[in-house]
Parts: sequence; structure tokens; C-alpha cells
Amino acid sequence: MSSIPNSPAYTEKEIDQLVRSFYEKARKDPSLGPIFEAHVTNWEEHFVQMTDFWSGNLLGTNRFYGAPMPKHLAVPNLRPELFEQWLKLFKQTTQELDNESFQLHVNLLAYRIASRLWAAYQMQHYPDKPLLELKAP
Ligand code: HEM
Repeated sequence: MSSIPNSPAYTEKEIDQLVRSFYEKARKDPSLGPIFEAHVTNWEEHFVQMTDFWSGNLLGTNRFYGAPMPKHLAVPNLRPELFEQWLKLFKQTTQELDNESFQLHVNLLAYRIASRLWAAYQMQHYPDKPLLELKAP
């Protein structure tokens, strides 16, 4: 199969690096770390799941069979600051990868997905409060 001219040169290796180094930061984070440790029992499985998720979004592969929305709706006490911290750590991680087009693309996707997760979360958990938007990192 011929490649698409000027298609972004993202690789599975970069995606794997992104996922692993993001969680290295997130697990140490005082606010996010305990949430992940409370839910993730098998980290290697979670890395594969997250790599498949980003590979699907960025490269159009079709390996991801998860359900992010119900999983996040089920996490108690999520607040906008947690999503904003998630996005901040994610942005720091992509900056370290040294591929500007990858960085811009994946950061934009992460912000859009985070905004959708947070909007749905508010509708389920805080139905009587006005919707709050996430600040871009
Ligand atoms: C406050 C921010 C966030 C927290 C605390 C959080 C936490 C979690 C937790 C606890 C899980 C479940 C892990 C498991 O059961 O194995 C999970 C899964 C996942 N998260 Fe997040 N997350 C956050 C934001 C995001 C964002 C912004 C994205 C995407 C841009 C994302 C993508 C995913 C995906 C793809 C999964 C796997 C879903 C599946 O296996 O079906 N998360 N997250």
C-alpha cells in the first residue's frame, strides 16, 4: 500500500513513549496518582489499551475496543482541576517528544476528548449546576 503524501510521520514507537512517559508523571502526581492507583491493577494492560486508543485516533488503526466514557463517568469526585492537571502533564510529555506536528495534533485531540469527557461527567454528576468549560493548558 502506498503511503499518503505529507502524512504525519507518527510512529507506534512515539505513541508508546507518549503513553509510558505520561503515566510516569501522572502516577507521581499528588492529585491524579491516587486515582489511577485505585483503578488500574495491571499497568502493562493499561499501557496497551492507551497505546491502542491513541494509535486509533492518530493512525486510524482499529485495535481499541475500550469504553472511555463509562469508565470515566464511574470515577468519583472528578473536578475540572483534575482534567486540567491531566492536560498539563500531557502537554509537558508531548513537549519532551521533540516532534512538533505530533505535539500539536495530539494536544488538540487530548483537549477535545477531555472536554467531552468532562461535559458528560458534569451532566451525570452535577446536573443542576451550569456547565464549566476546561481551561486549555
Ligand atoms: C481527570 C482526568 C482523568 C482521570 C482521573 C482518568 C482516569 C482514568 C481511569 C481511572 C481509567 C480506568 C482505568 C481502568 O479501569 O483500567 C481511565 C481509562 C482511560 N482513560 Fe482516563 N482519565 C482522565 C482523563 C482522560 C483523558 C483526557 C483521556 C483522553 C484524552 C483519557 C483516556 C482514557 C482511555 C482511552 C481509557 C481506557 C478506557 C477503556 O479501557 O475502556 N482519560 N482513565
